[in-house]
Amino acid sequence: MRRPLIAGNWKMHKTAAEARELARAVALGCAGQDGLDVLLAPPYTALSAVAEIARPAGLLLAAQDMHWAEQGAFTGAISPGMVAEWASHVILGHSERRALFGETDIEVNRKLHAAFAQGLLPIICVGESAEQRDAGQADAVVAAQVVAAFEGIPADEAARAILAYEPVWAIGSGRACDPAEAARMMARLRAGLAERFDARTAQAMRLLYGGSVKPDNIRDYLAAADIDGALVGGASLGAESFNTLLRLSASAPPG
Ligand code: PGA
Repeated sequence: MRRPLIAGNWKMHKTAAEARELARAVALGCAGQDGLDVLLAPPYTALSAVAEIARPAGLLLAAQDMHWAEQGAFTGAISPGMVAEWASHVILGHSERRALFGETDIEVNRKLHAAFAQGLLPIICVGESAEQRDAGQADAVVAAQVVAAFEGIPADEAARAILAYEPVWAIGSGRACDPAEAARMMARLRAGLAERFDARTAQAMRLLYGGSVKPDNIRDYLAAADIDGALVGGASLGAESFNTLLRLSASAPPG
């Protein structure tokens, strides 16, 4: 059985003080809630502040990105070791990194190797653009991103990775992917992972849906057998909406 995971990606929101306050409210909201992993991904500058609250509350913590090198002359970048001081997880290849910062599949793959080398658990994001979907390329684009990301990664490491399917057109747009279509895409993703690795590895991996997840649609996604949770942006920025989403997820019947 894969344990459901709900991850809040705060993107470039929240100062350390604001992040501390939100993390406290989420920790209170999840107190006593079992059967669900909750992960927070604050900006780098708030990782240490949120770690102090997340650890005792049993919340998981992720950085939103990192460099692949251990150290060096990379002004403005953060190394895997720096992330690992505070966090257990790292988001890699988010579509905003790919689209706005020119991140390539090759860089995502380097970061994935670096994450495992550092003992960090990766959340790898893949997803097609609106143009690619309209051209009928969604399945092929996503499959290619997965193949590229996992180049040279052995099955035992892949089994511990988390994969987030986030159609780019659904992110921050309020236009969430139809749950049946998300379920279809993610069933294909898992089938592709079984081919690339093996059935056991594919079954072990947690697959998240992301893109305009809100309290009023979260259960539609969790109902799908291949959707093990969600990567949530906008709806994770307020304690009330995120806690509502977590409560609805914790009580959702397993898909
Ligand atoms: P959103 O963002 O929930 O605001 O659409 C999701 C994401 O970027 O992970």
